[in-house]
Amino acid sequence: MAKSSSFNPLQEKGMPLDKQTRNWRDLTAFQYKKQEVHPYTRTRIITMNGIEVDAAIFKHMMARMTPDPDLKKALAVTRRIEQQQQKAVSGAIPGNESTLETTIGYEQVAVDLTAWCARNEPDSYMRQAYEFALLEDFDHLYRYANMLDMQAGTMKAESIVGKLTEIMPGRPTVAEHRHPLDSIRKPMDMKKAAPITMMNVMTLVAAEQQTMNFYMNVANQYEDPILRGLYTEIGMIEEQHVSHYESLLDPTCTWLMCMVMHEFHESWLYHAFMEQEVDPRVKKLWEMHLDMELGHLQAAVELYKKFGKDDPAAFMPKETPAPLTFESNIEYIRKVIEEQVQLTADGTEFVPVDSLAGDHRYHAYQAQVNAGMVPSQEVVKKHISQKGEDYRFVTAPHPVKRFQDRKAVPEQ
Ligand SMILES: [Fe+2]
Ligand SMILES: [Fe+2]
Ligand SMILES: [Fe+2]
Ligand SMILES: [Fe+2]
Repeated sequence: MAKSSSFNPLQEKGMPLDKQTRNWRDLTAFQYKKQEVHPYTRTRIITMNGIEVDAAIFKHMMARMTPDPDLKKALAVTRRIEQQQQKAVSGAIPGNESTLETTIGYEQVAVDLTAWCARNEPDSYMRQAYEFALLEDFDHLYRYANMLDMQAGTMKAESIVGKLTEIMPGRPTVAEHRHPLDSIRKPMDMKKAAPITMMNVMTLVAAEQQTMNFYMNVANQYEDPILRGLYTEIGMIEEQHVSHYESLLDPTCTWLMCMVMHEFHESWLYHAFMEQEVDPRVKKLWEMHLDMELGHLQAAVELYKKFGKDDPAAFMPKETPAPLTFESNIEYIRKVIEEQVQLTADGTEFVPVDSLAGDHRYHAYQAQVNAGMVPSQEVVKKHISQKGEDYRFVTAPHPVKRFQDRKAVPEQ
């Protein structure tokens, strides 16, 4: 295996496809201990689960659009492996970690992954788009943490995030609901983009899509109407986030090109996570999956040459971007909150909410969805009435003065 400085997935052979199939025991053998796991091991697991779900679903969608039986069969071969990888990764989450505890992990992913991508994004419009959505997931973390703090026998949100991520109001969830026309952005151009720009956006699309899928499926597991409502409401924001991120992708990327890019992206992420992983068993998993992805990439390149009738070098990144890292982003996020909390979206642009005209569709949509009770407000209201103040984990006072009062429910 090449070292990171010289890592070029296109030059590695990887594991042959016929050696990649694992048995049930291999797929279900390992679960971390929720009290001991490093928070960023949990976030890497949540991220790679989302990447593998995206890989499998992408190959299903592509197969449905593929008339050639040989290409369809080739997709079935690696798709089966993506599914096994997803099972092994997702299965690392232990059964005694509650859905709400895992949810705290999901929003920590959204916060620290998005912050890293924004900090390492050379394109100013893409960076702005990331910072914009970052503040929304940051607020989700706060709302779910307030819910968790009222449940008996669960971990504290601050110990789940390991005090590496602050928990306090961001852009209030109640203010995030916008008309669908304001969730579509300007697409990137693959031909001009830096390699890291392509990796960042693919990472965020898959991670947000997984969060959307997760909330789509777990909202009905609760009896508490506030908790059901919270997953429903935040699930609708994740729908906005997927619309937002996927509209940044280059729409001229064909199915075949995207197929190769997906394998390159998976290889890049597993390599990054393998290098930073502190849990030896998880590190082994990343190492094995990297080896598999390199095999997928080789196969995808060959398929592209055959069916795309060209060399993928024409569109592939010329160099491998530096590895993505899960790390604490506290100071950076405080600055973004201070400067951007009042932003909303108007078409493809990000503008202060008070600059919108009174008859803007934002206000009409807000009036429709927020009529009656708003679960993300109710949860904090309930926490304040039960415990005298909201739940937070902070290292300093909130950067926005009006959000410093812990006895008031934060709204726009
Ligand atoms: Fe995969
Ligand atoms: Fe979120
Ligand atoms: Fe999100
Ligand atoms: Fe793959």
